[in-house]
Parts: sequence; structure tokens; C-alpha cells
Amino acid sequence: MVISIEKFQEQGGRLKTDDLDFEAFRTEPLSPHVLRCLSYMHDIEYQTVLYTRELLVTPAWKDPQFTAFLTLWNYEEYWHGQALGKVLALHDWPAHDTRLTAMRSFNKRYLFWSPAIFWLLGHGVRKFPAVHMTWGAINEWTANAAYNRLAQIADHPVLSELLGRIMRQEGRHAAYYASYARDLLEGDPRAQRVTKWFLQHEWAVVGSGDVPKLETSFAAAYLFGSGDGAELVDRVEDRIDALPGLAGLSLVRSAIAAATRHVCDEEGSVPLPPVRVDATVSR
Ligand SMILES: [Fe+2]
Ligand SMILES: [Fe+2]
Repeated sequence: MVISIEKFQEQGGRLKTDDLDFEAFRTEPLSPHVLRCLSYMHDIEYQTVLYTRELLVTPAWKDPQFTAFLTLWNYEEYWHGQALGKVLALHDWPAHDTRLTAMRSFNKRYLFWSPAIFWLLGHGVRKFPAVHMTWGAINEWTANAAYNRLAQIADHPVLSELLGRIMRQEGRHAAYYASYARDLLEGDPRAQRVTKWFLQHEWAVVGSGDVPKLETSFAAAYLFGSGDGAELVDRVEDRIDALPGLAGLSLVRSAIAAATRHVCDEEGSVPLPPVRVDATVSR
């Protein structure tokens, strides 16, 4: 059953950060590899509003529960972007509007057409809601895994606390999308077929196309290409496999392998994240 918006809004809202000691990043800065991943995540968080622009031209606008979800979801993702931007700015890395303006210019051709593309998909493809609900669940699960792994790699007390708070919200987003996707896929072979087709032919790691492909590849390969990253990907795959009719796609695993090849081709190798003896990924 789809999670009601009353239940969804019980927790969440603006990410609390005012009690965090951001100045600690000045004395104990993050590594350039971690900052590169954070830059990518910052961009993706802020990109949510443009994805919402696409969803709202599909017939999904007719469902007041879903538009309420989109409103709250966007608000929460915006504050994730703000918080990550603050971390970047404290390292004197570009953040907020500087990056977003560059990003929208980088992708301007697609962004010009994307509402038209989504209007066509939404009105021309029966069962399209099952596709975008499943898509949303997968992207939230991978975001959650990425933050989990990044906190482990960076091993920085303030960053870990911040990412832990973000992860709790990503978990709610994933649960909402997955509950909706499950409802639409259950007992509907056509919805399952259409969703499977879109995932196999169109799905890519979130951000592909929105930011230079190499940045998406770097984050995917660095975070998930080694160590506990592979275990986190397995967990995402298990969740996808558990959705009705979607077993055995191995989407994320294949995407990580392709991202690793891409980074190796462009930069020679993927840097190995530090291994911490006492590190455990959050369950
Ligand atoms: Fe987020
Ligand atoms: Fe999210």
C-alpha cells in the first residue's frame, strides 16, 4: 500500500544543521576525492527541482497525494543541496548557484526539451507511472548507499553526522517511491514489462547527463567499486529484485563496472579509498 502523505510528513522537513560544527572542516579538511564526490552529490540534490518539472507534465499532477509528496520531497532535497554546498564552500570549492548555473548551461539542450519528452512519455506510454515510481525508488536507494559509503570513507565526525541525517530522509523518500512502485507493479504484467524495458534500456546512475559523465562515473566507481561499496550495491540489487517482476536485472552492478572502465579510460585508474580497520557500514 502506498504510504500516505500524512505518514510521510510526520518526520522530515528542513534538514537540521545549525548545531553542527562546520568550522571543523577548516581545521580537519576532507580529501579531494571525497570533495569530488560531494560536488556530484550537491549537484544531484539541487537537480531535484528540474526532475519535478518533468514529472509534473505527466498525468501524475492529477494525484494530490503525489503532488504533496513532490512538494515535500523537493523541499527536503533542496536543504540537502544547501548543506553539501556549505561543506564545499568551507573548502573553497565552487558550490550553490555557481555550480548550478554551469550545470544548467552544460545540459541546456536536454533541459529545453525534457518537459516535452516527459509529456509524450506520460501521455503516450501506458503504465509510465510504474516506470517513474520504480526509477525514483532505485535512485533514492543508491543515494542512501552512496552517503553511507562516503561517510565511511571520509571518517569525519561532522560529515558523518550530516550524512547520517541526510540518509534518514533519503530512506523515507525511498520507502515512499518503493511503496508506490510495488502497488503499481503488483499483479500487472504489462506494468512490469514496460518498467523492465525502460530500466534495461534507459536507466543510468542518477546524474548521468546532468553533469559531465566523468563526474558521475568517478563517484560511482570510487564509492562502490571496492571494499564495502560492493556489499552496499548488493543490498540495492536485492531491493530491486524484490519488486514485482523486476528480479535479476543487475542494473547498478553493471553500471558500476561501466563507470569503473570509464574512469580508467579517462584517468588511468580509480583511486582506492582508504581502508579503515574499525569501519562498518550502517545497517
Ligand atoms: Fe537528498
Ligand atoms: Fe532523496
